[in-house]
Amino acid sequence: MNDILPDSTAVWQHLEDTFREIAGAYGYREIRFPLLEQTQLFKRSIGEVTDIVEKEMYSFEDSGGDHISLRPEGTAGCVRAAEQHGLLYNRQQRLWYQGPMFRRERPQKGRYRQFHQFGLEAFGMAGPDIDVEIIELSVAFWRRLGLADCLTLELNNIGSAEDRRRYGAILGEYLAGRAEELDPSARNRIETNPLRVLDSKHPGNRAVVEGAPAMADCLSPESVEHFEALKDLLAAAGIGFTENGSLVRGLDYYNYCVYEWTTDALGAQGAVCGGGRYDGLVAQLGGRPTPAAGFAIGVERLALLLETLEKIPADAQFRADICIVVIGDGVTAESQALARRLRERYPDLRVVCQCGGGKYSQQVKRAFELNARLVAVMERAEGGSPQQVKLRSLDDGFEPVTVPLERCEEEVERLLSPDS
Ligand code: HAM
Repeated sequence: MNDILPDSTAVWQHLEDTFREIAGAYGYREIRFPLLEQTQLFKRSIGEVTDIVEKEMYSFEDSGGDHISLRPEGTAGCVRAAEQHGLLYNRQQRLWYQGPMFRRERPQKGRYRQFHQFGLEAFGMAGPDIDVEIIELSVAFWRRLGLADCLTLELNNIGSAEDRRRYGAILGEYLAGRAEELDPSARNRIETNPLRVLDSKHPGNRAVVEGAPAMADCLSPESVEHFEALKDLLAAAGIGFTENGSLVRGLDYYNYCVYEWTTDALGAQGAVCGGGRYDGLVAQLGGRPTPAAGFAIGVERLALLLETLEKIPADAQFRADICIVVIGDGVTAESQALARRLRERYPDLRVVCQCGGGKYSQQVKRAFELNARLVAVMERAEGGSPQQVKLRSLDDGFEPVTVPLERCEEEVERLLSPDS
Protein backbone atom coordinates (compact mmCIF):
# COMPACT_ATOMS: atom_id res chain seq x y z
CA MET A 1 0.00 0.00 0.00
CA ASN A 2 2.93 2.29 0.65
CA ASP A 3 5.85 3.37 -1.39
CA ILE A 4 8.52 2.66 1.19
CA LEU A 5 11.77 4.52 0.71
CA PRO A 6 14.98 2.61 0.14
CA ASP A 7 16.75 1.95 3.43
CA SER A 8 13.77 3.51 5.16
CA THR A 9 14.28 1.43 8.29
CA ALA A 10 17.48 3.20 9.23
CA VAL A 11 16.18 6.67 8.40
CA TRP A 12 12.96 6.07 10.28
CA GLN A 13 14.85 4.80 13.28
CA HIS A 14 16.92 7.96 13.22
CA LEU A 15 13.80 10.13 12.96
CA GLU A 16 12.09 8.25 15.76
CA ASP A 17 15.13 8.37 18.07
CA THR A 18 15.57 12.08 17.43
CA PHE A 19 11.90 12.92 17.96
CA ARG A 20 11.75 10.81 21.13
CA GLU A 21 14.80 12.59 22.50
CA ILE A 22 13.47 16.06 21.75
CA ALA A 23 9.94 15.33 23.02
CA GLY A 24 11.54 13.95 26.21
CA ALA A 25 13.65 17.06 26.58
CA TYR A 26 10.46 19.15 26.63
CA GLY A 27 8.78 16.91 29.22
CA TYR A 28 6.58 14.75 26.96
CA ARG A 29 5.98 11.10 27.70
CA GLU A 30 4.94 8.51 25.17
CA ILE A 31 1.37 7.25 25.05
CA ARG A 32 0.04 4.35 22.98
CA PHE A 33 -3.54 3.93 21.93
CA PRO A 34 -5.35 1.64 19.51
CA LEU A 35 -5.46 1.76 15.74
CA LEU A 36 -9.15 0.86 15.85
CA GLU A 37 -11.74 3.04 17.55
CA GLN A 38 -15.49 3.47 17.47
CA THR A 39 -16.35 5.40 14.30
CA GLN A 40 -18.38 7.79 16.43
CA LEU A 41 -15.22 9.08 18.15
CA PHE A 42 -13.88 10.46 14.87
CA LYS A 43 -17.25 11.84 13.79
CA ARG A 44 -17.59 13.74 17.05
CA SER A 45 -14.04 15.10 17.09
CA ILE A 46 -12.87 15.63 13.50
CA GLY A 47 -16.37 16.64 12.39
CA GLU A 48 -19.14 15.02 10.36
CA VAL A 49 -18.71 17.43 7.48
CA THR A 50 -15.01 17.04 6.77
CA ASP A 51 -13.24 15.21 3.95
CA ILE A 52 -11.71 12.82 6.45
CA VAL A 53 -15.01 11.67 7.96
CA GLU A 54 -17.14 11.97 4.84
CA LYS A 55 -14.96 10.02 2.46
CA GLU A 56 -11.54 9.03 3.76
CA MET A 57 -12.09 6.73 6.73
CA TYR A 58 -11.72 2.98 6.60
CA SER A 59 -14.88 2.09 8.50
CA PHE A 60 -16.70 -1.18 8.92
CA GLU A 61 -19.20 -2.96 11.07
CA ASP A 62 -17.59 -5.76 13.03
CA SER A 63 -19.16 -9.14 13.72
CA GLY A 64 -20.68 -7.78 16.95
CA GLY A 65 -22.38 -4.95 15.08
CA ASP A 66 -20.00 -2.22 16.36
CA HIS A 67 -19.11 0.57 13.96
CA ILE A 68 -15.32 0.70 13.89
CA SER A 69 -12.77 2.80 12.01
CA LEU A 70 -9.04 2.70 11.50
CA ARG A 71 -7.72 5.90 13.04
CA PRO A 72 -7.24 8.64 10.44
CA GLU A 73 -5.27 10.77 12.94
CA GLY A 74 -4.04 10.64 16.52
CA THR A 75 -5.58 13.50 18.47
CA ALA A 76 -9.02 11.96 18.99
CA GLY A 77 -7.63 8.59 20.14
CA CYS A 78 -5.05 10.29 22.35
CA VAL A 79 -7.73 12.38 24.10
CA ARG A 80 -10.00 9.35 24.46
CA ALA A 81 -7.25 7.16 25.91
CA ALA A 82 -5.80 9.86 28.18
CA GLU A 83 -9.25 10.70 29.52
CA GLN A 84 -10.17 7.06 30.04
CA HIS A 85 -6.97 6.43 32.02
CA GLY A 86 -7.41 9.50 34.19
CA LEU A 87 -4.32 11.24 32.77
CA LEU A 88 -6.10 14.54 32.29
CA TYR A 89 -7.83 14.80 35.62
CA ASN A 90 -7.02 18.08 37.32
CA ARG A 91 -3.52 18.32 35.96
CA GLN A 92 -1.35 19.39 33.11
CA GLN A 93 -0.16 16.65 30.82
CA ARG A 94 2.31 16.46 27.94
CA LEU A 95 1.99 13.34 25.75
CA TRP A 96 3.53 12.20 22.48
CA TYR A 97 2.78 9.27 20.20
CA GLN A 98 3.73 7.76 16.91
CA GLY A 99 2.31 5.19 14.56
CA PRO A 100 0.29 4.50 11.45
CA MET A 101 -2.81 6.48 10.44
CA PHE A 102 -5.20 5.60 7.62
CA ARG A 103 -7.00 7.83 5.13
CA ARG A 104 -8.49 6.74 1.85
CA GLU A 105 -7.07 9.60 -0.18
CA ARG A 106 -5.93 9.48 -3.80
CA PRO A 107 -2.36 8.22 -3.46
CA GLN A 108 0.42 10.35 -4.92
CA LYS A 109 3.92 11.40 -3.97
CA GLY A 110 3.83 12.23 -0.26
CA ARG A 111 0.22 11.12 0.14
CA TYR A 112 -0.55 7.56 1.16
CA ARG A 113 -3.46 5.58 2.49
CA GLN A 114 -1.40 4.29 5.35
CA PHE A 115 1.07 6.84 6.63
CA HIS A 116 2.78 7.55 9.93
CA GLN A 117 2.76 10.46 12.30
CA PHE A 118 4.80 11.69 15.22
CA GLY A 119 2.25 13.62 17.23
CA LEU A 120 2.14 15.41 20.52
CA GLU A 121 -0.60 16.89 22.65
CA ALA A 122 -0.38 19.22 25.67
CA PHE A 123 -3.34 19.42 28.04
CA GLY A 124 -4.39 21.85 30.74
CA MET A 125 -2.54 24.96 29.50
CA ALA A 126 -4.64 27.78 28.11
CA GLY A 127 -2.07 30.49 27.35
CA PRO A 128 -0.13 31.11 24.15
CA ASP A 129 3.10 30.12 25.95
CA ILE A 130 2.39 26.42 25.41
CA ASP A 131 1.57 27.01 21.73
CA VAL A 132 4.94 28.66 21.30
CA GLU A 133 6.72 26.00 23.31
CA ILE A 134 5.23 23.34 21.02
CA ILE A 135 6.26 25.24 17.92
CA GLU A 136 9.73 25.71 19.39
CA LEU A 137 9.95 21.96 19.94
CA SER A 138 9.24 21.40 16.26
CA VAL A 139 11.94 23.92 15.38
CA ALA A 140 14.39 21.99 17.58
CA PHE A 141 13.47 18.85 15.62
CA TRP A 142 13.93 20.55 12.21
CA ARG A 143 17.27 21.91 13.39
CA ARG A 144 18.52 18.49 14.42
CA LEU A 145 17.55 17.20 10.98
CA GLY A 146 19.19 20.11 9.17
CA LEU A 147 15.80 21.30 7.89
CA ALA A 148 15.37 24.54 9.82
CA ASP A 149 15.98 26.67 6.71
CA CYS A 150 13.84 24.48 4.43
CA LEU A 151 10.45 24.85 6.14
CA THR A 152 8.04 27.75 6.50
CA LEU A 153 5.69 28.21 9.42
CA GLU A 154 2.26 29.33 8.22
CA LEU A 155 -0.08 30.61 10.92
CA ASN A 156 -3.70 31.60 11.11
CA ASN A 157 -6.11 32.70 13.78
CA ILE A 158 -9.41 30.88 13.28
CA GLY A 159 -10.96 32.34 16.44
CA SER A 160 -13.17 30.68 19.02
CA ALA A 161 -15.99 28.26 18.18
CA GLU A 162 -18.39 31.18 18.63
CA ASP A 163 -16.32 33.43 16.30
CA ARG A 164 -16.39 30.69 13.71
CA ARG A 165 -20.14 30.28 13.97
CA ARG A 166 -20.56 34.02 13.43
CA TYR A 167 -18.07 34.10 10.59
CA GLY A 168 -19.52 30.91 9.06
CA ALA A 169 -22.93 32.59 8.79
CA ILE A 170 -21.48 35.71 7.11
CA LEU A 171 -19.28 33.65 4.79
CA GLY A 172 -22.15 31.27 3.96
CA GLU A 173 -24.32 34.21 2.95
CA TYR A 174 -21.56 35.61 0.74
CA LEU A 175 -20.90 32.21 -0.90
CA ALA A 176 -24.61 31.63 -1.48
CA GLY A 177 -24.68 34.89 -3.45
CA ARG A 178 -21.96 33.55 -5.79
CA ALA A 179 -22.97 29.88 -5.68
CA GLU A 180 -23.10 29.44 -9.46
CA GLU A 181 -19.37 30.23 -9.70
CA LEU A 182 -18.45 27.46 -7.22
CA ASP A 183 -17.82 23.80 -8.01
CA PRO A 184 -20.45 21.29 -6.76
CA SER A 185 -18.49 20.20 -3.68
CA ALA A 186 -17.97 23.80 -2.54
CA ARG A 187 -21.63 24.51 -3.21
CA ASN A 188 -22.56 21.61 -0.94
CA ARG A 189 -20.44 23.09 1.82
CA ILE A 190 -22.17 26.49 1.87
CA GLU A 191 -24.71 25.24 4.38
CA THR A 192 -22.68 22.63 6.20
CA ASN A 193 -19.08 23.86 6.50
CA PRO A 194 -18.47 27.07 4.54
CA LEU A 195 -15.01 27.62 6.07
CA ARG A 196 -13.69 24.62 4.17
CA VAL A 197 -14.32 26.46 0.90
CA LEU A 198 -11.57 28.89 1.94
CA ASP A 199 -8.71 26.45 1.37
CA SER A 200 -10.12 24.97 -1.84
CA LYS A 201 -7.60 24.77 -4.70
CA HIS A 202 -10.24 24.85 -7.46
CA PRO A 203 -9.59 28.01 -9.59
CA GLY A 204 -13.29 29.02 -9.74
CA ASN A 205 -13.61 28.70 -5.97
CA ARG A 206 -10.35 30.60 -5.45
CA ALA A 207 -11.69 33.57 -7.41
CA VAL A 208 -14.82 33.64 -5.23
CA VAL A 209 -12.81 33.25 -2.02
CA GLU A 210 -10.59 36.18 -2.93
CA GLY A 211 -13.53 38.55 -2.55
CA ALA A 212 -14.90 36.90 0.62
CA PRO A 213 -15.32 38.75 3.92
CA ALA A 214 -12.25 38.25 6.10
CA MET A 215 -12.30 36.08 9.19
CA ALA A 216 -10.11 38.67 10.90
CA ASP A 217 -13.11 41.03 11.01
CA CYS A 218 -15.19 38.54 13.03
CA LEU A 219 -12.71 37.67 15.74
CA SER A 220 -13.49 38.28 19.40
CA PRO A 221 -11.06 40.38 21.48
CA GLU A 222 -9.95 37.21 23.37
CA SER A 223 -9.04 35.43 20.12
CA VAL A 224 -7.11 38.44 18.89
CA GLU A 225 -5.32 38.84 22.22
CA HIS A 226 -4.25 35.19 22.30
CA PHE A 227 -2.94 35.34 18.75
CA GLU A 228 -1.10 38.62 19.20
CA ALA A 229 0.57 37.34 22.38
CA LEU A 230 1.54 34.17 20.56
CA LYS A 231 3.14 36.12 17.73
CA ASP A 232 5.07 38.26 20.23
CA LEU A 233 6.39 35.13 21.94
CA LEU A 234 7.36 33.64 18.59
CA ALA A 235 9.26 36.80 17.75
CA ALA A 236 10.95 36.70 21.17
CA ALA A 237 11.99 33.10 20.46
CA GLY A 238 13.38 34.15 17.06
CA ILE A 239 10.93 31.95 15.14
CA GLY A 240 9.84 33.39 11.79
CA PHE A 241 6.36 32.82 10.37
CA THR A 242 3.98 33.98 7.67
CA GLU A 243 0.31 34.61 8.28
CA ASN A 244 -2.01 32.76 5.93
CA GLY A 245 -5.65 33.83 6.22
CA SER A 246 -6.90 30.86 4.19
CA LEU A 247 -5.31 28.20 6.40
CA VAL A 248 -8.33 26.54 8.03
CA ARG A 249 -7.16 22.88 8.40
CA GLY A 250 -9.23 19.83 7.56
CA LEU A 251 -10.33 18.99 11.10
CA ASP A 252 -13.09 20.82 12.94
CA TYR A 253 -11.81 20.74 16.51
CA TYR A 254 -9.41 23.70 16.32
CA ASN A 255 -9.77 27.17 17.76
CA TYR A 256 -7.54 30.28 18.00
CA CYS A 257 -4.20 29.42 16.49
CA VAL A 258 -3.66 26.85 13.71
CA TYR A 259 -0.48 26.30 11.74
CA GLU A 260 1.35 24.20 9.22
CA TRP A 261 5.02 23.73 8.44
CA THR A 262 5.31 23.66 4.67
CA THR A 263 7.92 23.17 1.96
CA ASP A 264 8.02 23.73 -1.80
CA ALA A 265 10.33 20.76 -2.27
CA LEU A 266 7.62 18.06 -2.20
CA GLY A 267 5.24 19.31 -4.88
CA ALA A 268 1.56 19.35 -4.01
CA GLN A 269 1.92 17.61 -0.62
CA GLY A 270 3.95 20.35 0.98
CA ALA A 271 2.63 20.19 4.57
CA VAL A 272 5.06 18.28 6.75
CA CYS A 273 3.43 19.14 10.06
CA GLY A 274 0.08 20.57 11.11
CA GLY A 275 -1.44 21.52 14.40
CA GLY A 276 -3.02 24.08 16.63
CA ARG A 277 -5.14 24.64 19.69
CA TYR A 278 -8.34 22.68 20.40
CA ASP A 279 -9.78 23.88 23.69
CA GLY A 280 -13.24 22.37 23.19
CA LEU A 281 -12.39 18.80 22.30
CA VAL A 282 -11.83 17.17 25.69
CA ALA A 283 -15.22 18.37 26.96
CA GLN A 284 -16.84 17.50 23.66
CA LEU A 285 -15.64 13.91 24.14
CA GLY A 286 -17.05 13.73 27.66
CA GLY A 287 -14.19 15.04 29.81
CA ARG A 288 -13.96 18.16 31.93
CA PRO A 289 -13.26 21.35 29.98
CA THR A 290 -9.51 21.21 29.35
CA PRO A 291 -7.52 23.56 27.14
CA ALA A 292 -5.29 21.66 24.72
CA ALA A 293 -2.89 22.09 21.84
CA GLY A 294 -0.70 19.88 19.68
CA PHE A 295 0.63 18.95 16.28
CA ALA A 296 1.42 15.94 14.12
CA ILE A 297 4.28 15.43 11.70
CA GLY A 298 3.95 13.25 8.59
CA VAL A 299 6.90 10.85 8.81
CA GLU A 300 6.86 9.74 5.13
CA ARG A 301 6.89 13.35 3.99
CA LEU A 302 9.72 14.15 6.35
CA ALA A 303 11.77 11.18 5.12
CA LEU A 304 11.00 12.16 1.52
CA LEU A 305 12.09 15.71 2.20
CA LEU A 306 15.38 14.59 3.72
CA GLU A 307 15.94 12.34 0.72
CA THR A 308 15.00 15.04 -1.81
CA LEU A 309 17.29 17.58 -0.18
CA GLU A 310 20.00 14.94 0.28
CA LYS A 311 20.08 15.56 3.99
CA ILE A 312 20.02 12.01 5.26
CA PRO A 313 22.87 12.04 7.76
CA ALA A 314 25.53 9.36 7.58
CA ASP A 315 24.74 8.31 11.13
CA ALA A 316 21.16 7.53 10.06
CA GLN A 317 22.51 4.33 8.48
CA PHE A 318 22.47 1.23 10.63
CA ARG A 319 25.91 0.63 12.07
CA ALA A 320 26.94 -2.42 14.07
CA ASP A 321 29.71 -1.65 16.53
CA ILE A 322 31.22 -5.05 16.49
CA CYS A 323 30.72 -8.06 14.28
CA ILE A 324 32.06 -11.39 15.52
CA VAL A 325 33.36 -13.62 12.75
CA VAL A 326 33.93 -17.29 13.48
CA ILE A 327 36.34 -19.45 11.53
CA GLY A 328 36.01 -23.19 11.50
CA ASP A 329 33.69 -25.32 13.57
CA GLY A 330 33.57 -25.48 17.30
CA VAL A 331 33.91 -21.85 18.37
CA THR A 332 30.20 -21.03 18.53
CA ALA A 333 29.93 -21.33 22.29
CA GLU A 334 32.97 -19.08 22.79
CA SER A 335 31.84 -16.47 20.27
CA GLN A 336 28.38 -16.33 21.79
CA ALA A 337 29.90 -16.05 25.27
CA LEU A 338 32.07 -13.15 24.08
CA ALA A 339 29.03 -11.42 22.54
CA ARG A 340 27.11 -11.94 25.79
CA ARG A 341 29.92 -10.47 27.90
CA LEU A 342 30.20 -7.46 25.58
CA ARG A 343 26.44 -6.80 25.67
CA GLU A 344 26.35 -7.11 29.45
CA ARG A 345 29.32 -4.85 29.97
CA TYR A 346 28.37 -2.23 27.33
CA PRO A 347 24.57 -2.26 26.97
CA ASP A 348 24.65 0.43 24.26
CA LEU A 349 26.97 -1.54 22.02
CA ARG A 350 25.51 -3.17 18.90
CA VAL A 351 27.08 -6.61 18.82
CA VAL A 352 26.28 -8.95 15.93
CA CYS A 353 27.42 -12.57 15.92
CA GLN A 354 27.87 -14.32 12.60
CA CYS A 355 25.38 -17.11 13.16
CA GLY A 356 25.46 -19.83 10.55
CA GLY A 357 29.19 -19.48 9.94
CA GLY A 358 30.35 -19.71 6.32
CA LYS A 359 33.57 -18.78 4.58
CA TYR A 360 35.69 -15.99 6.06
CA SER A 361 35.15 -13.82 2.95
CA GLN A 362 31.37 -14.29 3.17
CA GLN A 363 31.35 -13.33 6.81
CA VAL A 364 33.43 -10.22 6.17
CA LYS A 365 31.04 -9.29 3.38
CA ARG A 366 28.18 -9.50 5.88
CA ALA A 367 30.17 -7.36 8.30
CA PHE A 368 30.43 -4.73 5.53
CA GLU A 369 26.65 -4.95 5.01
CA LEU A 370 26.22 -4.23 8.71
CA ASN A 371 28.55 -1.27 8.39
CA ALA A 372 30.51 -2.72 11.32
CA ARG A 373 33.01 -0.46 13.02
CA LEU A 374 35.03 -3.40 14.21
CA VAL A 375 35.36 -7.08 13.32
CA ALA A 376 36.45 -9.67 15.87
CA VAL A 377 37.78 -12.84 14.28
CA MET A 378 37.68 -15.94 16.44
CA GLU A 379 39.55 -19.00 15.31
CA ARG A 380 40.16 -22.17 17.22
CA ALA A 381 43.84 -22.56 18.03
CA GLU A 382 45.40 -25.91 17.22
CA GLY A 383 43.65 -28.51 19.34
CA GLY A 384 41.96 -26.20 21.83
CA SER A 385 39.48 -23.40 22.47
CA PRO A 386 40.29 -19.99 20.96
CA GLN A 387 42.72 -18.14 23.15
CA GLN A 388 43.13 -15.15 20.90
CA VAL A 389 40.89 -12.80 18.99
CA LYS A 390 41.94 -10.68 16.06
CA LEU A 391 40.32 -7.25 16.00
CA ARG A 392 40.30 -5.37 12.74
CA SER A 393 38.68 -2.37 11.17
CA LEU A 394 36.89 -2.59 7.83
CA ASP A 395 38.00 0.84 6.70
CA ASP A 396 41.60 0.73 7.93
CA GLY A 397 40.61 2.99 10.83
CA PHE A 398 43.27 1.20 12.89
CA GLU A 399 45.91 -1.48 12.52
CA PRO A 400 44.65 -5.03 13.20
CA VAL A 401 45.52 -6.25 16.67
CA THR A 402 45.52 -9.71 18.13
CA VAL A 403 44.62 -9.93 21.82
CA PRO A 404 44.11 -12.76 24.30
CA LEU A 405 40.42 -13.66 24.60
CA GLU A 406 40.20 -12.47 28.20
CA ARG A 407 41.44 -8.98 27.24
CA CYS A 408 39.08 -8.67 24.29
CA GLU A 409 36.41 -6.51 25.98
CA GLU A 410 38.89 -3.90 27.17
CA GLU A 411 40.53 -3.75 23.78
CA VAL A 412 37.15 -3.35 22.06
CA GLU A 413 36.34 -0.47 24.40
CA ARG A 414 39.69 1.17 23.67
CA LEU A 415 39.34 0.79 19.89
CA LEU A 416 35.77 2.08 19.80
CA SER A 417 36.35 5.02 22.13
CA PRO A 418 36.08 8.31 20.24
CA ASP A 419 39.67 9.35 20.90
CA SER A 420 41.43 6.11 20.01
P1 HAM B 1 -3.15 16.69 9.74
O1 HAM B 1 -2.71 18.02 9.17
O2 HAM B 1 -4.35 16.07 9.18
O3 HAM B 1 -3.30 16.92 11.31
O4 HAM B 1 -1.94 15.68 9.60
C1 HAM B 1 -0.65 16.00 10.08
C2 HAM B 1 0.41 15.66 9.06
O5 HAM B 1 0.28 14.29 8.67
C3 HAM B 1 0.29 16.41 7.75
O6 HAM B 1 0.91 17.69 7.85
C4 HAM B 1 1.05 15.50 6.80
O7 HAM B 1 2.45 15.72 6.92
C5 HAM B 1 0.73 14.12 7.34
N1 HAM B 1 -0.32 13.48 6.51
C6 HAM B 1 -1.64 13.69 6.55
N2 HAM B 1 -2.28 12.92 5.63
C7 HAM B 1 -1.33 12.21 5.01
C8 HAM B 1 -1.32 11.22 3.96
N3 HAM B 1 -2.45 10.78 3.40
N4 HAM B 1 -0.13 10.71 3.56
C9 HAM B 1 1.02 11.11 4.12
N5 HAM B 1 1.09 12.03 5.11
C10 HAM B 1 -0.05 12.58 5.55
C11 HAM B 1 -3.64 15.93 12.17
O8 HAM B 1 -3.67 14.77 11.90
C12 HAM B 1 -3.88 16.44 13.58
N6 HAM B 1 -4.26 15.32 14.42
C13 HAM B 1 -2.65 17.15 14.10
C14 HAM B 1 -2.84 17.67 15.51
C15 HAM B 1 -2.36 17.12 16.65
N7 HAM B 1 -3.50 18.76 15.84
C16 HAM B 1 -3.48 18.89 17.17
N8 HAM B 1 -2.80 17.89 17.65
